[in-house]
Amino acid sequence: MRLLTTLNDLRDERAAWQRTGATVGLLPTMGYLHAGHLSHAHAARAENAIAVASIFVNPTQFGPNEDLARYPRDLERDLALLDGAGVDAVFAPTAAAMYPADFNTWVEPSGPLTERLEAAHRPGHFRGVATIVAKLLLLVAPTRAYFGQKDAQQVAVVRRLIADLNLPVELRVGPIIREPDGLAMSSRNVYLHGEARAAATALSHALEAGRAAWESLSAPASAESVREAMRAVVAAEPLAALDYAEVCDPDTCLPLTTAQAPALLAIAARIGPTRLIDNYLLRADGSWEIGHRVNELGQ
Ligand code: PAF
Repeated sequence: MRLLTTLNDLRDERAAWQRTGATVGLLPTMGYLHAGHLSHAHAARAENAIAVASIFVNPTQFGPNEDLARYPRDLERDLALLDGAGVDAVFAPTAAAMYPADFNTWVEPSGPLTERLEAAHRPGHFRGVATIVAKLLLLVAPTRAYFGQKDAQQVAVVRRLIADLNLPVELRVGPIIREPDGLAMSSRNVYLHGEARAAATALSHALEAGRAAWESLSAPASAESVREAMRAVVAAEPLAALDYAEVCDPDTCLPLTTAQAPALLAIAARIGPTRLIDNYLLRADGSWEIGHRVNELGQ
């Protein structure tokens, strides 16, 4: 596995891939990898001749009061995990390489996606995400790019970005991987200990309650009882503070009035200082995408 730390290293490597006409799968990450990332790495490995991961804690997608400084990092461990997953190259640039002092061009997504859910709670977040994702897609020029369903709104933003900028890349979305008790895997779970770790299961329990409420409805019915079912679970957990429990369109994130598929059940809550997100997706065909528990993966 090659470690590429400069833009020139990456460009040289990319030129070699392009000379052979190889398909390239890119998995963009901020490192501190978990089983969710690795399942996407396995997909990139299986579906492309060349599998590439990027590791870059993107400063521009963090707000001034967020956890950029303490975001967990462990490059050596990440490299070993990606090597084990059969990844061919890792691009791990410095912040100065990606954002030189005179950097002044941004990709600014607009519309409901930048006003609701995560966008409402993290102003500027998706500008940072869209800018770095566009840069990575242009630098690596992959055939396919791999993102996790756990960041469902990010997936919607990236889908729009690829369509709006006519980027020649196929978006692949990997499932949420969950701990055995249902907690969605996240690099930020490292912040959770003891009671806080136990309380964090409120998010997946709330989604389960939302799904049960949805399935008890006789269609077409109001989506409000689904939101209420989710809110009630979080309200019963004293250590959890709800940011939102929403039932919305998966592509626009606009709230649904009627409980009709496709739908995204999206939740965000704070457990002390740690902010967590999770979701269930109800596809247009009526099937649920709720992710997989790591102990049930059979790997
Ligand atoms: O999902 C993430 O880890 C980040 O938002 C991404 C896509 C790597 C951009 O920094």
